Amino acid sequence: MNNKGLTFFLAGFLGMLLFGWFVFPSLMYQTFEQPIQFSHVIHTELTGMSCNDCHYVKSDGRFSGIPTNENCSMCHLAVLGETEDERIFVEEYILKDREVPWFVYSRQPENVYFPHVQHIQLAEMSCESCHGDHGSTEILRSFQRNRLSGYSRDIWGPSISRINNPPGTGMKMNDCIRCHEDADLTIGCIGCHK
Ligand code: HEC
Ligand code: HEC
Ligand code: HEC
Ligand code: HEC
Ligand code: HEC
Repeated sequence: MNNKGLTFFLAGFLGMLLFGWFVFPSLMYQTFEQPIQFSHVIHTELTGMSCNDCHYVKSDGRFSGIPTNENCSMCHLAVLGETEDERIFVEEYILKDREVPWFVYSRQPENVYFPHVQHIQLAEMSCESCHGDHGSTEILRSFQRNRLSGYSRDIWGPSISRINNPPGTGMKMNDCIRCHEDADLTIGCIGCHK
């Protein structure tokens, strides 16, 4: 191979690598912004609320999940501050009695059954071990949906190779099973699938 051939080969190779790492992922995912911003920091540090005030296990054992307007209206029946997001929240959602259509980063496919109560009460796991630092964030990042599967990108995790995913990110079937094996749990297919 002469030098020119080698240069073309390297340029093509580099081009494909860049395409694979940077262009391909952005083609794979469709990006959405949350309907309004919500700061976990304001709500935990400024108001002194705990996670449990908005996310709790109900008396029937089911997890409350994302809070509804009912959890907010005791403070937000009127506009409290100066922010545009809070004004929209009060005027367009609370006063019109409409729920905010939040995108849920961690949402699993319809056929998966995931019980919070077993993990947070029986196994005493922290929210951070599966959700990372979401509870101490100031802004909501964009939501990314995989164009092929329709699933949130968080199921796969932020790293395409899955090698450098930070702790508390990525929740593929193997991630669930790996932790269950470490805890000597064997759960059959129908334990996790509806
Ligand atoms: C004032 C109520 C409130 C409190 C207190 C609160 N949250 Fe939230 N939480 C929300 C709302 C609203 C959402 C939906 C918007 C979002 O994704 O942040 C949410 C969403 C979440 C999600 C789901 C993210 C997703 O889409 O998968 C996690 C995880 C979470 N909160 C963790 C926490 C933790 C941990 C704490 C305590 C440190 C906490 N929250 C305290 C209101 C609250
Ligand atoms: C205990 C009172 C209290 C409750 C309950 C509460 N908030 Fe707030 N919220 C506040 C305060 C205080 C601020 C800061 C107002 C300011 O000065 O801008 C705030 C600010 C906000 C803002 C604008 C700032 C931001 O980006 O977060 C939004 C949006 C908001 N709240 C939504 C919610 C939602 C949704 C819920 C219910 C899940 C909720 N709040 C429950 C007290 C509360
Ligand atoms: C063992 C991992 C794990 C732990 C620990 C955990 N979660 Fe989750 N969480 C998940 C998974 C998986 C989902 C998606 C469930 C689904 O879509 O059915 C989820 C979903 C959620 C949602 C969104 C629910 C919805 O509407 O779909 C909220 C809010 C949430 N978790 C908050 C918390 C909070 C707060 C804690 C700590 C008290 C916590 N989680 C602990 C794994 C975990
Ligand atoms: C980091 C560890 C960890 C992760 C990740 C995890 N689990 Fe678990 N899971 C546990 C432990 C520990 C228990 C046992 C709790 C107990 O009963 O004491 C459990 C229990 C369960 C149970 C109840 C089993 C039974 O028969 O009572 C189901 C269902 C389950 N997990 C589903 C899931 C799914 C689905 C995921 C992934 C989305 C997941 N888990 C991720 C640790 C984990
Ligand atoms: C510990 C919980 C758990 C167990 C046990 C489990 N699954 Fe899953 N499975 C999941 C979760 C979570 C997903 C969704 C995330 C993903 O696609 O990896 C999933 C996804 C799948 C999918 C769809 C794959 C895709 O990429 O869309 C199939 C098929 C599947 N499981 C079959 C099975 C079979 C067959 C068994 C029994 C041998 C089994 N699962 C046992 C948690 C579990």
